[in-house]
Amino acid sequence: MARPRSKVLVEADEVQIDYPSGSPLPYQMEFHNSKAKYRAIIGGYGSGKTTAGVIEAIIQSILYPNNLGLIGRADARRLKLTTMEVFNEICPPALISKRNEHDGIIEFVNGSRIVYMGLLEEHDAPFKIKSLNLGWFFIDQAEEVSYNIFEDLKYRLRRQNSARCGFITANPRGKNWIYKVFVSKELLDEKEKELYQYWKVTTYDNPYLPSDYIQQLEKMPPHLYRIYVLGEFEGFTDEVFSIKWENVLIDEIKPFEKQNLEEFKKYTFIAGIDYGFRNPSAVVFSYYKQETGELVVFDEIYEPGLTALELAQKIKEKMFYWGINPIFVIDPSTKQRSGVSGTSIFDELSLYMPMIIPGNNEVRTSISRIQGLFNQGSLKITKNNVNLIEELRNYSWKDEKEELAMMEKPSEKISTTKNDHAVDALRYIVNYLYDSGVIFKKIRPQKFVPRDDYKHFQRVYKKLSKRFTTLWQTNPWI
Ligand SMILES: Nc1ncnc2c1ncn2[C@@H]1O[C@H](COP(=O)(O)OP(=O)(O)O)[C@@H](O)[C@H]1O
Ligand SMILES: [Mg+2]
Repeated sequence: MARPRSKVLVEADEVQIDYPSGSPLPYQMEFHNSKAKYRAIIGGYGSGKTTAGVIEAIIQSILYPNNLGLIGRADARRLKLTTMEVFNEICPPALISKRNEHDGIIEFVNGSRIVYMGLLEEHDAPFKIKSLNLGWFFIDQAEEVSYNIFEDLKYRLRRQNSARCGFITANPRGKNWIYKVFVSKELLDEKEKELYQYWKVTTYDNPYLPSDYIQQLEKMPPHLYRIYVLGEFEGFTDEVFSIKWENVLIDEIKPFEKQNLEEFKKYTFIAGIDYGFRNPSAVVFSYYKQETGELVVFDEIYEPGLTALELAQKIKEKMFYWGINPIFVIDPSTKQRSGVSGTSIFDELSLYMPMIIPGNNEVRTSISRIQGLFNQGSLKITKNNVNLIEELRNYSWKDEKEELAMMEKPSEKISTTKNDHAVDALRYIVNYLYDSGVIFKKIRPQKFVPRDDYKHFQRVYKKLSKRFTTLWQTNPWI
């Protein structure tokens, strides 16, 4: 007995077009059956979006003889490697009469044609589009192209004897044009609204994916997981960190008093330094508490135009105020010597400050470590650190490529937009805590430096200065 056929799929002269499993997923079925003029499938990786788009393209070509449709994606190379590859797997060769790879045209036995093209990189794409008389179009990964391209294609839908429809697939990218057209419909006139329909899908909607593929995706940072697996619009993808601020912000703390001696011994004090002159210098003061695994940022310095000496003085004021003698981890590029003076900022600062070591500047590594701490609820920031908080809120990827590369090349330097000085200082702290193993192993209690005993403070300070080179490599808190 013949296999039962799904309603939507077309049988053209005994040739069957079908999904690899023999039937569409429920949402794919609805998508094919929908009468909406414009359709969008928006959601996670591997949810079957491209396959559905390609099958719809073949259906349109078969249903209407002499049809003309366009398959597009921003980048021509990716179009050929992904979308058209799916097309070639699915479309039975018997349906195709001619292929012109050079011009990107596929001809069907019923006279229908499909043109496929990169929508951004081919400089003549807009020109090509304007000369077309289309019956349908399909944009794969439409979040990569602008609303203009979608609108241009809409105005090409004027072919007689065709459905004159457009469908797109996309990963969500915040509240972009796709969201505003298909989801909130805020860009549409009242009477246009009913022409648009979308399906929000997740990776889990497709039961045919290999389990190791899903396991791989589940290792993504949470905000990327929400977008690329769950298909959420919420986490605006420019943001590097996803932070539940209500779990992070805590009240200011008071200087460490003698009375708290027992408590104090449990802390490792670490400060990160990002030196700048035209840009602000940023110093972030923190303690790590082994017992609870908590890293608490409790103070900051944020000021442009400071010389190394002036910065060192400001730092000492803070140390005295707080009664602490932290390990300082500094931007490693401060070790570069000036061509004029032959010294470096690092050299200068280490004259005034004993416990200063060059930090690990691996950006992606530190970003995932910081995100990990946020996820566990173990990174707290007191509310007085307004600059660090502001920077964390605005810390964003320069572009999409930077964000995706996060998963592939964790140690590479990235560029972010906006200010990142205090975040850099925090990154040195977190990388140090992990690299030195502090975050994993038990550390020795630290000496208390009473803040009301300046003489004692100076004494400890001097002693530590002398032993600086050997001390910082082991544990400065003997
Ligand atoms: N209805 C289906 N039955 C079986 N396999 C499917 C079905 N839909 C999609 N697939 C398979 O799932 C995988 C991911 O589909 P794809 O269309 O590339 O997803 P997306 O474009 O959403 O990333 C592909 O291997 C595809 O063949
Ligand atoms: Mg796809």
